[in-house]
Amino acid sequence: MSIQLRVYVPDHPLIKHWLGIVRDKNTPTVLFKTAMTELGRWLTYEGSRYWFSTLDTTVQTPLTETSATFINPEIPIAIVPIVRAGLALLDGAQTLLPLASIYHLGLVRDEETLEVSCYLNKLPEKFDPETRVIILEPMLATGASIIRAMAEITQRGADPALMRIISIVAAPRALQKLSQEYPHLTIYTAIIDEGLNAKGYIVPGLGDAGDRAFGT
Ligand code: URA
Repeated sequence: MSIQLRVYVPDHPLIKHWLGIVRDKNTPTVLFKTAMTELGRWLTYEGSRYWFSTLDTTVQTPLTETSATFINPEIPIAIVPIVRAGLALLDGAQTLLPLASIYHLGLVRDEETLEVSCYLNKLPEKFDPETRVIILEPMLATGASIIRAMAEITQRGADPALMRIISIVAAPRALQKLSQEYPHLTIYTAIIDEGLNAKGYIVPGLGDAGDRAFGT
């Protein structure tokens, strides 16, 4: 049986609404950042549905005992925002996962060669293999950044099957690369777009997510 990358595009009006806002080139920076926060929130909500380790137990209500399910506090939860653009999704993800550890990973691509280099790495030396990892990378374009991020994270012991990538716009090229290298991965994205232009930008896309989120 062959394992296949799972890519989910949640059919939710809030996700469609905020996607329309970030796509619109006339959206000002403050609203763009709000929209990214909301997309980070709702895609993390959708993406975490079957991802947590939970514990079934009982609680005493004021009236009687009843069953209850809690998030297992023994299993670490990690969020890895890919700096810069991934930071725009962080507030939304963090409100849902307030106890998650945040490990920043700074990747930049050369605009000419499209090669990726790492300028900041706050990942732990070793992940507990049970760690639930959420990677925040809004634009899955050529796949170079996310493949580099995956290499950095998996070589520290995290299991791709327990990861969720939260993206806003994904292009087929990045999904193909991820599917070849990490078939156990699961991705939640607001949309899958047609392709890339000659400069590696997603079309129709939303432009440079980092520049638009931070007004640069
Ligand atoms: N990074 C972006 O910010 N936008 C793209 O379209 C591709 C990569």
